[in-house]
Amino acid sequence: MTDKIGLSELAALKRDGRPIVMVTAYDHPSARLADEAGVDIVFTGDSAANNVLGYADTTPISMDEMVMLARAARRGTHRAFFMADLPLGAFQVSDEDAVRNAVRLVKEAGAEAVKIEGGGPMVSRARAIVAAGIPVMGHIGLTPQTATSLGGYKAQGRTASKARQLYADALALQAAGCFAIVLEAMPARVAQRITEALRIPTIGIGAGPGCSGQVLVWHDLLGINHGPAPRFVKRFAEVGAETRRGLEAFAAEVRNGTYPAEEHTYKITEQELALFESEIAPGVLVADDWL
Ligand code: KIV
Repeated sequence: MTDKIGLSELAALKRDGRPIVMVTAYDHPSARLADEAGVDIVFTGDSAANNVLGYADTTPISMDEMVMLARAARRGTHRAFFMADLPLGAFQVSDEDAVRNAVRLVKEAGAEAVKIEGGGPMVSRARAIVAAGIPVMGHIGLTPQTATSLGGYKAQGRTASKARQLYADALALQAAGCFAIVLEAMPARVAQRITEALRIPTIGIGAGPGCSGQVLVWHDLLGINHGPAPRFVKRFAEVGAETRRGLEAFAAEVRNGTYPAEEHTYKITEQELALFESEIAPGVLVADDWL
C-alpha cells in the first residue's frame, strides 16, 4: 500500500503535473473499493441526495444525513484523502454556521476537509472555515445547490464577463485559503486558464482535460443511474445492468428451486436427527414445553 494521501501529496500531484483522481462515495463498501482502487480523494458529496436518498436534487439533504453517510464512507477510506460536502443551508447564512457545520463533518464523520459551493459571498465562509483549522475545497461554475439562480443545470462561464467572474472567484477562493477548487460544467478553455492562474489544484467535472484532476459521481461513472446524464459523464462500467442481472437470477433460482442447493445447506448427523425426531414425536412434546 502506498502512503496516505494528505494535503501535501495533493499539492505535489499538482506541482508534478500528475492528475488527481477524485470520486464520490456515500457508504462503506463503495469507499473501500475506491480506496483499494487507488483514487486520491474519496468524497461524500451532497449528490448523495439524488443518488442514494431518492431526492429530486441536492437541495433537501440535511447535515444529519450528510454526517451519517460520510461517517460510513470514512470507515472504508484508509489511504485516500477523505472529504465531505457542506449541504445547502449549512453555510450560506453565516460564517458561524459554516464553521459549526464544518466542525461537525470533522468531529462526527471524520472528514479531513470540507467542500463548499459558490464564489462571491461564500469566499468569506471559506476563509472562516480555514481560519478554524479545517481545509476547504471550493466549488464554482455549475453549483447544483443554487442551480435555479444559475438558470438550471447548464454550463457556466460561456461569455467573457461570466468567465471573468469565475476567474475572479477562483483567485478569491485561493486567497481565502482553499487547498483546491472544483470547476463544474464550464468551457474547457476557461477551466484551463483558471487552472494555469492558480497555485492550488483544480478538480474538473465537465471542465475539460486542462484541470489538475477529475471527479465523477459514483453512480454516473459506474452506470448505476439510468436516464439522461450530463454530456461530461462517461460510463466506465455497467454495474446497474449487472446488478439487475444478478437479482433476476436470484429470483429465478428461488422460484424454480435450484437455490439453495446442497452446498448452501448445513448438516446434522443421522444420530442427532433421530434424537430430534424422537423428541418431537406426537405426545412427547407438550405445548407447555414451549413456554
Ligand atoms: O456533490 C457532489 O457530488 C459534488 C461533486 C460533483 C464534486 O459536488
